Amino acid sequence: MLCLKVPSQPSWIEAARADLDRVLLDHAHCEKKAAVNAMALVSRYPGCEMLVREMIALATEEMEHFGMVYSLLRERGVDLERDPGDPYVQALHREVHQNEPQRMMDLLLVAALVEARSCERFSVLSKHVPDESLREFYRSLLASEAGHYRTFYDIACEYYPERDVRARLDALAAREAEIVLALASAPTMHG
Ligand SMILES: [Fe+2]
Ligand SMILES: [Fe+2]
Repeated sequence: MLCLKVPSQPSWIEAARADLDRVLLDHAHCEKKAAVNAMALVSRYPGCEMLVREMIALATEEMEHFGMVYSLLRERGVDLERDPGDPYVQALHREVHQNEPQRMMDLLLVAALVEARSCERFSVLSKHVPDESLREFYRSLLASEAGHYRTFYDIACEYYPERDVRARLDALAAREAEIVLALASAPTMHG
């Protein structure tokens, strides 16, 4: 699916099914961080018009998702808690080059991979959670996360040769697969 090299493990699916409140709590943080990350890219690259326009649209959509997940949490009687952090995203960010011009491409492609993995996990959840209304909710998010993957890829191709973008995405996707296979299968979006 998308650029990913391995599917989510059955052990993650079982962990997620066993604690959906925890998955939703972490999901809320993911949506909020996606919006924050979009605005961080605007702060870092204010002169890149296509990037700025796309990130304004993306942050708006991610904040909408955050509102939806927050409402769902409250309906289930779950309080929002402080974010304990996301080891998967932290591991991917360690792959980002520190120097430009490579840094911007890496930041865009890491964001593309996080969107792709989230999309794959929504797809899994939309088939495996027992609650039909929750399955429908995950289905409704699938298409927009696939679109976000594409948005980050397209922005990278606007500022770098597509051949270079493809090669770097392939290398980062290989690393992403190693990271996913080493995860402990926790009930979180990227656990
Ligand atoms: Fe989202
Ligand atoms: Fe997204």
